[in-house]
Amino acid sequence: MKILISNIKELLQIRDTSVSKVSGKEMAELPSIKNAYLLIEDNSIADFGTMQNCPEISPDKIIDATGKIVLPTWCDSHTHIVYAGNREQEFVDRINGLSYEEIANRGGGILNSAKKLNESSEEAIYNQSKTRLEEVMKLGTGAIEIKSGYGLSVEGELKMLRVIKKLKANYPVAIKATFLGAHAFPTEYKDNHKAYIDLIVNEMLPQIAEEHLAEYIDAFCEKGYFSVEETERIMQAGTSFGLIPKIHVNQFNAIGGIAAAVKYQALSVDHLEVMNSEDFEVLKNTNTMPVALPSCSYFLSIPYTPAREMISAGLPLALATDYNPGSTPSGNMNFVVATACIKMKMTPEEAINAATINGAYAMGLSESHGSITRGKRANLIITKPVSSFYQLPYAFGSNLIHSVIIEGEVIL
Ligand code: NIG
Ligand code: FE
Repeated sequence: MKILISNIKELLQIRDTSVSKVSGKEMAELPSIKNAYLLIEDNSIADFGTMQNCPEISPDKIIDATGKIVLPTWCDSHTHIVYAGNREQEFVDRINGLSYEEIANRGGGILNSAKKLNESSEEAIYNQSKTRLEEVMKLGTGAIEIKSGYGLSVEGELKMLRVIKKLKANYPVAIKATFLGAHAFPTEYKDNHKAYIDLIVNEMLPQIAEEHLAEYIDAFCEKGYFSVEETERIMQAGTSFGLIPKIHVNQFNAIGGIAAAVKYQALSVDHLEVMNSEDFEVLKNTNTMPVALPSCSYFLSIPYTPAREMISAGLPLALATDYNPGSTPSGNMNFVVATACIKMKMTPEEAINAATINGAYAMGLSESHGSITRGKRANLIITKPVSSFYQLPYAFGSNLIHSVIIEGEVIL
């Protein structure tokens, strides 16, 4: 099957295969071709260039993109879209003055979602989760990481990871699974952290490895959740089962978790709303991608990740949604890109780099996703007619997506 997209007003994010991420000043550059064509063959990008060089071929389908921008689909490297029910009541409680922490301390928060998840069947959770996946695909997400972490029991965690496996099998979007058994301590282990970590290490991890249910391991390294030492034990155990760390860290407090994650060669460190100078230093010249989650900051009214300081320090930065029922009930990467520009003062070029190639890197998918590169997956967003790509973050509440192509298949 050959699809030719012709008369593209501007084709964004064209890269060589050698580019796996962009850092510091490089983030300001978004290579593009104006008045372009792009040829899809089966599930891959076969060719692209200026319209003058458009080959004379007879494809199976022609899409005329006059006035429209084409860019790679979003790479959302941090989500928790597999969950049961919602936490609307906590949302209203926060409006009425309670904090995220206060809600968690009285048994709400992650433990509330864990209760709902353990009471739901695998089928019910799958059905709720697939609705969210279909929603975000239509919003332009073509690769996504999904975490467990609302089971907090052997059965619950396996149930979540099996749902992720089923989503992987049934949808064209690239999905990476992360085991987040260390998301919170269940009430019965509140005073016996060691016993819960033993359960993760001795019961959950071996089964997850045997069934190949996850590629990555995560922990919520935070005051009141997992200490740096506890997170290190989780990373150590995960690594021994072949899982690569991707860690929730520095959301509310800087407690030294970034240095620990870097020590275990984490692929990414995520949240980073609170950063101290040492955190910046340890990230320099490493392979660990910092990931910002601006819609979480927006929803919880907490600080935004200091993107400008990070980019000035020469660091790379990825953007992701954090789609989850508690801190970010939204999986809209278009909103994330706009919020990064509006609130974190990232330029549109930087934000698009952060949400495509750097997001792909934070999922180990740079070789196949995140840019317009010959041989990469044909994962594309075609916008509605726009004056320039600056419209995407500028008109932050409008849906400017006309079509989405995933693995060469037009899904919208
Ligand atoms: O990334 N911070 C930890 N985990 C999630 C929120 C989980 C929840 O509230 O359900 C996050 O924000
Ligand atoms: Fe998260």
